[in-house]
Amino acid sequence: MNLPDFIADTREGKSLSGERIQEFVAAVTLGTVPDSQVAAWLMAVTLRGLSYADVRHLTEAMRASGRTLDLAGAFPGTTLDKHSTGGVGDKTTLVMAPVVAAAGLHMLKMSGRSLGYTGGTVDKLEAVPGLRVELGADEALSQVRHIGAAFSTQSTELAPADARMYAIRDVTATVRSIPLIAASIMSKKLAIGAGCILLDVKAGAGGLVTTRKDAVELAELMVRLGRAAGRQTAAVITPMNTPLGRAVGNALEVREALDALQDPDAADSNLRAHCGLLAALGLRLALQCSSEVAAAKVDEVWRTGAALRKMVQIAAAQGAPDNLDALLGSLPVAPYRFPVRATSSGFVRSIDASLVARIASELGAGRFRPGDRIDPAAGVLLTAGPGQRVERGDEVAVLHSSSAAHSILTARMQAAVKIGVERSSERAPRTMIIGLEGPLPPSHHRYGDRCAERTGRQ
Ligand code: URA
Repeated sequence: MNLPDFIADTREGKSLSGERIQEFVAAVTLGTVPDSQVAAWLMAVTLRGLSYADVRHLTEAMRASGRTLDLAGAFPGTTLDKHSTGGVGDKTTLVMAPVVAAAGLHMLKMSGRSLGYTGGTVDKLEAVPGLRVELGADEALSQVRHIGAAFSTQSTELAPADARMYAIRDVTATVRSIPLIAASIMSKKLAIGAGCILLDVKAGAGGLVTTRKDAVELAELMVRLGRAAGRQTAAVITPMNTPLGRAVGNALEVREALDALQDPDAADSNLRAHCGLLAALGLRLALQCSSEVAAAKVDEVWRTGAALRKMVQIAAAQGAPDNLDALLGSLPVAPYRFPVRATSSGFVRSIDASLVARIASELGAGRFRPGDRIDPAAGVLLTAGPGQRVERGDEVAVLHSSSAAHSILTARMQAAVKIGVERSSERAPRTMIIGLEGPLPPSHHRYGDRCAERTGRQ
């Protein structure tokens, strides 16, 4: 194919055709196109966007670039997959997967390591000594058959074109492109082959997309792609300006997830509500039941301890200790704890998720470069939350670290906790659900087309 023409047509916002996209993705997968041309094309898409038809061709070509599984065929009517676009302190998978598995669904959750500052689910799981996440597709499928759920790294056999493109995007400032994010996520979800797909799209300072408008555009595009491929697909848009729950850091988040499964009433209310909502939506999608029936089932498996037992069973099957006390006892703890104190009296107005994520990474909980070693015990534990009254000098957070030198970060953490004299009257942004109630609005525009926004062109 003539690659310079293909790149130029993308740059000009022309329609690309399925054949050309397929040929390009095949060349990316085989390695017959150099990084420079892949990068140029990715930048053209980032600046100019893609039409819906072309995002669909791209997603399909990436899905077909490697092995595909047929989860829905193996477990008819009970398969669910879930993807979160990444948030700070986001341990949703660790809570909702055992809940839906205890309720009878089958879930093969393939996840990544941390991207940028936010911790990946795999990093959290690897904080548990002995827990293996490199399962491979066949072993993971076998575990799903026996237990109902498995947590695994993204198989390199599935959607290999995405792995190469993502690595190039990561170093060419082309990660935050709506059509590229949608094709990347949905090609992997479609390759796993679950019948239902639930997308958890975060909007805010700590998320991959920062504005609600972009989050809605991304969510609608992914739902459309999922439906076009014959999957029941829905998306939830949740604000990500404040971390989800109280813990940010790998072992700390695993502990918070286990505690939440053990005692839902004592869990952080946002974490409980968010995981409960996602689990109930998953059951609604997969079992085609009413929201009341789904919510009652979630409550039942959570309160009776069935979900917690399922989590311990999943972890044990992957090499972790096989009872809760031993599992909790095995989690690494940091030797240093630095309390962070309120700088004034008042009400906590917000906790800056992106700043907390950065501090957690500097403590050792995240990566600055691919391959950086993670300290599983490091992180931030929030001891005060938005809306809470605090007096000057009260503890609002604790930094967990393996290094005494990190006490210096307490001042930055103080800046992340915004305190106002009056209780905030601002309403928290609503959680929005896309794809369950009625059809999606028709879409003719080009997705992620920044040039169109600047020039007013449609
Ligand atoms: N996660 C993915 O899998 N792909 C993206 O492009 C962004 C987040």
